[in-house]
Amino acid sequence: SKKAFIFDLDGVIVDTAKYHFMAWQKLADSLDILFTPEHNEELKGVSRVRSLEIILGLGNVTATEEEKQKWLTQKNEDYLSYIEKMDDSEILPDVRETLEFIKEKGQGIALGSASKNARPILEKVGLLHFFDVIVDGNDVTNAKPDPEVFVRASKLLGVSNEDAIVFEDSVAGIQAANIAGMLSIGIGEKSVLKEAKYCFPNFLHMDTSFIETLIKN
Ligand code: G6P
Ligand code: MG
Repeated sequence: SKKAFIFDLDGVIVDTAKYHFMAWQKLADSLDILFTPEHNEELKGVSRVRSLEIILGLGNVTATEEEKQKWLTQKNEDYLSYIEKMDDSEILPDVRETLEFIKEKGQGIALGSASKNARPILEKVGLLHFFDVIVDGNDVTNAKPDPEVFVRASKLLGVSNEDAIVFEDSVAGIQAANIAGMLSIGIGEKSVLKEAKYCFPNFLHMDTSFIETLIKN
């Protein structure tokens, strides 16, 4: 039967995780909160609002709704300035080739991202046309590890959860895929993405025969 290949965006398709980190670090610095790359793993895959809560928690900072709104806007403006000139050179290794292969095989392709900036980013890097379905931060209410974003994507593709395959670089995203009963594939370090069914440092290490096996099983 047809499979659903669901891709996370930040850190899987494009190298934007570093820009999210830079923008959060700038905000944390301005609030005198110590925020390191290790802390950042916890932020990957989770929503903008939840990310701010985690950072404020690190510094035991309490804030009014108004302050939080101001900081969220500030973070996003900084982030948007970092990605303004982004182009196809920031597509991660072998992602385009992988999308082409899956498309040729007639399988479903979806985006499952927490980001509200997902569509303009896919447009900027010229990958939008590969996606049959896009579910992003504008469509869901529950942040990963809640499986809402992936469940919605597979439903829109008309594929059951057990026929869905999720590519993720975040711990929260791997957990979301597992909770949904989907096949989780980590893109990144195995020591971080321990709960992933399979893990590859990037798509260059995943050959087409592996994807063919996923389609057949
Ligand atoms: C993704 C990223 C997070 C980011 C979140 C919200 O999950 O991994 O780092 O905070 O999306 O993105 P947004 O572009 O809406 O702020
Ligand atoms: Mg990600």
